[in-house]
Amino acid sequence: MSVTAVIGAQWGDEGKGKFVDILAQEAELVVRFNGGNNAGHTIVNEHGTFKLHLMPSGAFHPNAKCIIGPGVVLDLASFIEELREFDKAGVSFKDRLFISPRCHLIMPYHRALDRLYEQAKGSMSTGTTGRGIGPAYADKAGYNGLRLADMARPSLFTEKLNLQISIKNRLIVALGGEPLDAHQIADEFFGYYSVVQPYIKETFGLLQDALKENRNILLEGAQAVLLDTDWGAYPFVTASTTLVSAATAGAGIPFNAINEVIGVCKAYITRVGNGPMPTELNDTSGEELRRVGMEFGATTGRPRRCGWFDAELVRFTAALNGFTSLALTKLDVLDGFEQIQLSTHYEHKGRLAHYYEGDATFLEECTPIYQTLPGWQQSINQARSWEELPEATRQYIERIEREGGVPVRYIGVGPDRNETIIRP
Ligand code: GDP
Ligand code: IMO
Ligand code: MG
Repeated sequence: MSVTAVIGAQWGDEGKGKFVDILAQEAELVVRFNGGNNAGHTIVNEHGTFKLHLMPSGAFHPNAKCIIGPGVVLDLASFIEELREFDKAGVSFKDRLFISPRCHLIMPYHRALDRLYEQAKGSMSTGTTGRGIGPAYADKAGYNGLRLADMARPSLFTEKLNLQISIKNRLIVALGGEPLDAHQIADEFFGYYSVVQPYIKETFGLLQDALKENRNILLEGAQAVLLDTDWGAYPFVTASTTLVSAATAGAGIPFNAINEVIGVCKAYITRVGNGPMPTELNDTSGEELRRVGMEFGATTGRPRRCGWFDAELVRFTAALNGFTSLALTKLDVLDGFEQIQLSTHYEHKGRLAHYYEGDATFLEECTPIYQTLPGWQQSINQARSWEELPEATRQYIERIEREGGVPVRYIGVGPDRNETIIRP
């Protein structure tokens, strides 16, 4: 039996979806435990290309049960849209999709406030996905949230909704937005509820049974460690905790049941949104990474900022989460480079410095120290074993292992499920 967590080791979009899809072939349960539809997890398989926002990335395997755990904030309209896409692809969720009634709902006023706060903050904005994530988690923490469970009691839900809308409309109007109509939102939400209602079920027993029966459980992290609300460069973070520890509350599983923690990282690094990024490339190499890696957000379509691999960051995220292995993705994107740079450490005001020493401004002031490594200048897309990789590629991977202190067990050489090397 194994309980495996898949965690983003950088700033997101590392290829978590692809690896969850691969590992889900042998899983009984695949669980999303944090974030919401700010996530965009891409899967490329025989059905086509899919960008999942809320549905666990094990969805394509008919034997995998999909769970949306209590730590997730749920945008029902977005989720129903995803269900329709699966329906079109002929994928059924009968008896294998379970949504925790504890999930908090992302309401239209959360989306409105997300945008209004960002506008009001101007150059100080975080660059959110605009999905209402921050305001939804803020309401959860501030005892103002509406949960899926509330919808089972329509009159109580309507009462709570009316109260929240009366509060939120005052804020929305003060920030220059249009007030929302409580009746319209109630009707809309009861319509959504009728679609998702068959899937709502307390998920604790399912996880407990799977643990007792020694089944494989896959915990699918959204976002990434450097966007964690405590350990990211605040306020350029997301609103939930993104560490492996988030799975214990967000899925409902004891921490000591988790025996594998896979950190997913790109062979370079990207970031969407604002905030410091020491190895960012604002030159032709950065453009090349964006072009070849097709680095445009899976959720918002925004161009991703691209840079060289930053070992200081991965060393930190590995130490914080106890990664047992790394999945190194998009190595094929580096195929054309004659030379590859890798940042091993930072310098801050003339001395060696660590990511965790300071805040966002401190990180802005850090200068990466680079090592130059030879490129391999050939396509690795067809390689399916360690031995088939060119010597320079192997050396690059081994360097990342040494710098990060974690073995690279999985290697991505293309977006497709099959374009993967798994080291024994
Ligand atoms: P996630 O949010 O971590 O699941 O990652 P995204 O789906 O947002 O972004 C990763 C992108 O890289 C997607 O377009 C994937 O199809 C693609 N991808 C994943 N692994 C590889 C790989 O090894 N090589 C290439 N070329 N693309 C990959
Ligand atoms: P996946 O799961 C990359 C970023 C946003 C912004 C910050 C806060 O696909 O890796 P939010 O909307 O969460 O309030 O935005 O976090 N962000 C992501 N960046 N991948 C993601 O998810 C992200 N989810 C949020 O761009 O900088
Ligand atoms: Mg993504």
